[in-house]
Amino acid sequence: MLTDTHGRIATDLRVSLTDRCNLRCTYCMPAEGLAWQPRSEQLTDDETVRLVRIAVTRLGVTDVRFTGGEPLLRPGLPGIVARCAALAPRPRLSLTTNGIGLTRTAPALRDAGLDRVNVSLDTLRPDRFARLTRRDRHRDVLAGLAAARDAGLEPVKVNSVLMRGLNDDEAPELLDWALRHGYHLRFIEQMPLDAQHGWQRERMVTAAEILERLAGSFALTPQDEGVRGSAPAERWWVDGGPATVGVIASVTRPFCRTCDRTRLTADGQVRSCLFAREETDLRTALRSGAPDEEIAGLWRTAMAGKKAGSGLDDPAFLQPARPMSAIGG
Ligand code: GTP
Ligand code: 5AD
Ligand code: SF4
Repeated sequence: MLTDTHGRIATDLRVSLTDRCNLRCTYCMPAEGLAWQPRSEQLTDDETVRLVRIAVTRLGVTDVRFTGGEPLLRPGLPGIVARCAALAPRPRLSLTTNGIGLTRTAPALRDAGLDRVNVSLDTLRPDRFARLTRRDRHRDVLAGLAAARDAGLEPVKVNSVLMRGLNDDEAPELLDWALRHGYHLRFIEQMPLDAQHGWQRERMVTAAEILERLAGSFALTPQDEGVRGSAPAERWWVDGGPATVGVIASVTRPFCRTCDRTRLTADGQVRSCLFAREETDLRTALRSGAPDEEIAGLWRTAMAGKKAGSGLDDPAFLQPARPMSAIGG
């Protein structure tokens, strides 16, 4: 098991499959993109599946989520999913994606064993989408969402980051749209993980503001007061239910005390936290012929040192050396 000194057990593995992306969201990376990881430093499909197997069969991981960058850019994704779905015990398998390409791949991913997807979409307006992501792909995302739902990759969750003066007026519209389409919407507080280091706490749209904006159009009642568990999202019934809306308030209402996550970057580093400043290199161990038990031991040690919290409220907080797209979302 992956236990830490604060009594938490990590059972949820987030595997980044690439640091590359076909969008350029302004809160994530600059227009010109980033210095991408050299392919030779990225884990191969075989190496990735081997690490997931070690996590599932030796370390108690029950849930595996593929992230990026944009994981649909990884050519071997359906094969990786199929091989992970064949593990015993079978982990639950999910994907966090910007949705572009799902129209082509959703059925194949479902057939490979993917259970569900979360899709990022911050606006319903094509012109805003083009400004926020610097790419004119709004229609592709909407089509990808529908394809995921039609393929039964449900519940389909939509992640929306609200930004002051850019899309924060759209919260009720987004919720109304999600309710009509049967998507489960979560609003996310923007975190200081952008490559440009431009995040400012004062500019962040907080969970409290998001709820206030929604309250103008919907009656919200807390769904799981006191029983939030390890989920990052707090949920509210909308107009009495059964539909809900979520808010992921990593900054103002962090879920660190119940965090059950461990992360693997596309270049084979274990991270105990999104905000950790340390990484543990499993790639070198893999490539120098280490047996499974040795790799499992390195992973256990990496997680044992997990800090109590993200450190976001510490005046001396420093962003991790790598941006979110290189860490995995
Ligand atoms: P579900 O299992 O569907 O609830 O997925 P999820 O919400 O954990 O995953 P998703 O990839 O959709 O992430 C939603 C938001 O939560 C993104 O902004 C992530 O960056 C953020 N997030 C994911 N894991 C962590 C974490 O360990 N810490 C913090 N602070 N935020 C996280
Ligand atoms: N803060 C909060 N969420 C972010 N995402 C990307 N960058 C940030 C950030 N700085 C979101 C994406 C996607 C998920 C993986 O994380 O929109 O939905
Ligand atoms: Fe790509 Fe996600 Fe970053 Fe947007 S937030 S540029 S979709 S990795």
